[in-house]
Amino acid sequence: MHIALDGPSGAGKSTVAKALAARLGLVYLDTGAMYRAVGLKALRLGLPLKDEQTLLPMLEETQLRVTRENGEQHVYLDGEDVSFSIRTPEVSMAASAVSTVGAVRRWLVAMQQEIARGLDVVMDGRDIGTKVLPDAEYKFFLTAADEVRARRRYDELRAKGQDVDFDEVLKDLRARDLQDSTRKESPLVQAEDAVLVDSSGLNVDEVVACLLALMGRA
Ligand code: DC
Repeated sequence: MHIALDGPSGAGKSTVAKALAARLGLVYLDTGAMYRAVGLKALRLGLPLKDEQTLLPMLEETQLRVTRENGEQHVYLDGEDVSFSIRTPEVSMAASAVSTVGAVRRWLVAMQQEIARGLDVVMDGRDIGTKVLPDAEYKFFLTAADEVRARRRYDELRAKGQDVDFDEVLKDLRARDLQDSTRKESPLVQAEDAVLVDSSGLNVDEVVACLLALMGRA
């Protein structure tokens, strides 16, 4: 079974996808982490983040591996576990920038489709229902008001000990929404056959219950 869960930043996709996977006994794949790893490498090398000519040779020299350890997803970039380092506001923006580049998308989409082959999986991202798993049995587009999403992201970063400012988080989130939904290659859009779920007034358990009900598995 394949479940596609798309939507803008901070809509709660990863928390919901993780809970849904646990309930249904499926594997969970956070595809944003893969774009973040590519963004991190380009940042570290000081490369222009939207230049295909520079990023393509970088990808040819890059090893990306996604593993599951004690139920948690880990991402290895050239052998280094970067699962923690990819969760900064700077890397969020870099991930969004490199994700506009066709070569990066083709490289990661192929990898994601390979992972999904023969596997029961809940995948979260921006283009899962439209591009990565167009034949997924279930497709959801999870969204929420931008202030609500920024508040969740802010609380998450604060809980991790990061010194962030709410207005900055909101500004970054809006910039990322705009970049993700206006890029030429597989922009963030709701797939025609995806069900829209607005999580603004709902907690995680309520969203999961809603998705299970929509799947007829409540
Ligand atoms: O889900 P996230 O916030 O970790 O994703 C980081 C960035 O990666 C996001 O701003 C856009 C890009 N992305 C994408 O283009 N396609 C995906 N399937 C997942 C993420």
